Amino acid sequence: MKIVGLSGSLRAASINSRLLRTAASLAPANIEVSIFKGLGELPLFNPDLEARQPASVATFFGAVAEADALLIASPEYAHGVTGTIKNALDWLVGFQPFASKCVAVVNTSPRARHADEALRETLKTMAALIVEPASISIPLLGAGLDESMMLSTPAIATAILRSLRAIQHAVASRCDPSAAPLIGMPT
Ligand SMILES: Cc1cc2nc3c(=O)[nH]c(=O)nc-3n(C[C@H](O)[C@H](O)[C@H](O)COP(=O)(O)O)c2cc1C
Repeated sequence: MKIVGLSGSLRAASINSRLLRTAASLAPANIEVSIFKGLGELPLFNPDLEARQPASVATFFGAVAEADALLIASPEYAHGVTGTIKNALDWLVGFQPFASKCVAVVNTSPRARHADEALRETLKTMAALIVEPASISIPLLGAGLDESMMLSTPAIATAILRSLRAIQHAVASRCDPSAAPLIGMPT
């Protein structure tokens, strides 16, 4: 199963990108997590550009189409989502394979509730299926952890792995919210 991670931050030392890279390292053999690194290359969304699809957009569409699920980690900027993630999502509004895609949202700063709510509202409007058991809040802001530290912190590693398993479960049950809950999920 393929999960594509999208980070809403372009910062080299981004906590959100670090979390996604940690998820990629932790993924068990039957789950592949890759991080799409081209969000910063997408032009600002303009419906006039949709017909001639710039190369960076075509690459993004290809990655999204191939993904069984998306894992989004994005910071809050001025009580909203970042321009990076909003621009990426705007490109996906008219992209049919995005509709009904399983999407998990990881919030690395529990105080950032405005962005979390706004992101969820946008995703629901775009007909994404938010995987609630996989959409978690991990307080990483200010913790100063790099990937190796996240990997060696049991509470963080376990939370990420549980999120991946919950995505896998949701994909297997076609993101049906009424599907049997995960019980005794292996970690
Ligand atoms: C321009 C800007 C605006 C921000 N606005 C908020 C905000 O409204 N609320 C908040 O909780 N944090 C805010 N922050 C803090 C970021 O969310 C925080 O630094 C986060 O870790 C950045 O994510 P990153 O490490 O993945 O780049 C802001 C940071 C920047 C650079």
